[in-house]
Amino acid sequence: MIDTEYLGLKLKSPVIVSSGPLTQNLVSLKKCEDAGAGAVVLKSIFEEQIDSDVNAELDANKEYLDSTGSEGFFLSSSRDYYIDRYMKLLTEAKKELSIPVIASVSAKSMASWIDYAERFVACGADAIELNYYPISSDKKVPGSDVDRRALEFAKIARERIKAPLSIKIGYKYSSLASLLASFDEIGLEGVVLFNRFFRPDIDIEKLEFTSGAPTSSSDEYGEALRWIGLMSGELDMDFCGNTGIHSGESVVKMLLAGAKAVEVCSAIIKDGFSAIGRMNAYVEEWMAHHGYSSLKDFVGLLAQENRKDGYNWERTQFLKTIS
Ligand SMILES: Cc1cc2nc3c(=O)[nH]c(=O)nc-3n(C[C@H](O)[C@H](O)[C@H](O)COP(=O)(O)O)c2cc1C
Repeated sequence: MIDTEYLGLKLKSPVIVSSGPLTQNLVSLKKCEDAGAGAVVLKSIFEEQIDSDVNAELDANKEYLDSTGSEGFFLSSSRDYYIDRYMKLLTEAKKELSIPVIASVSAKSMASWIDYAERFVACGADAIELNYYPISSDKKVPGSDVDRRALEFAKIARERIKAPLSIKIGYKYSSLASLLASFDEIGLEGVVLFNRFFRPDIDIEKLEFTSGAPTSSSDEYGEALRWIGLMSGELDMDFCGNTGIHSGESVVKMLLAGAKAVEVCSAIIKDGFSAIGRMNAYVEEWMAHHGYSSLKDFVGLLAQENRKDGYNWERTQFLKTIS
């Protein structure tokens, strides 16, 4: 039995399909379920994307909109079009799938975050994942302010969103341990560690910006493993591992560190939906080999609390390597 509980939801597998290209239409969502996923996180609705699409349309129709004075109406109805499209997918997914469907929101203003999330909860989303990833590139803003803003944002979201709530973040914070403890304190049900940000690159022949590989590689899971291992035994909220989970082995590692579930994207893009079934089968075989009958028997076995200190998650490997 590899069922788990995450954000208060019952999942038949700890493998969740992460927000992205695999979760943006119904056909693909059904493939996730058929392949054995425990849940799906719909592709995020991005306010930035909506704005840029709407502004492009606005420019294309400027003459007509100016002449009819209908720019305001055009703007609000165009935004509604994107949100309605998202709600349609969510409603269909809830009707067609039996696994939990988590909606993912990424907005610019607090009002939009809350507005979108409330609408998605009304459509039956089983939980909301806040896709929170500001890049702190303003040299005048100290690290403590970056952490405080993340917390203030989560607090308002927690107060307003009446559904299980998780936040998906990166790891560049002044004190991740303190921030995670605060997320727990304000009552978030879960945290996803870590989002993998867009990586810029440069074409040195054309002297142009390009984008780095959009997908992760199988050795990128270490940072999530470390922080889940350090913090999962200390806090009540659920931890979900993300980035670089490409095999059943890495799923087991995340569970041992204390993750209740993992989110997977790149491995499925690269290997197809059958990667989900292979991960599930590996976890089952590994459990049988070690005499475990339920995930509860070993989730968090190697978390810091069980080790009594964080040594193994902090410097051991480095010290072993240099000695
Ligand atoms: C093409 C692409 C699109 C993505 N879109 C989203 C998105 O809309 N929202 C989000 O939270 N994450 C998005 N992600 C990030 C993934 O959900 C995931 O966090 C990241 O790829 C790390 O997991 P992985 O190593 O299993 O791929 C996207 C990833 C890729 C490759």
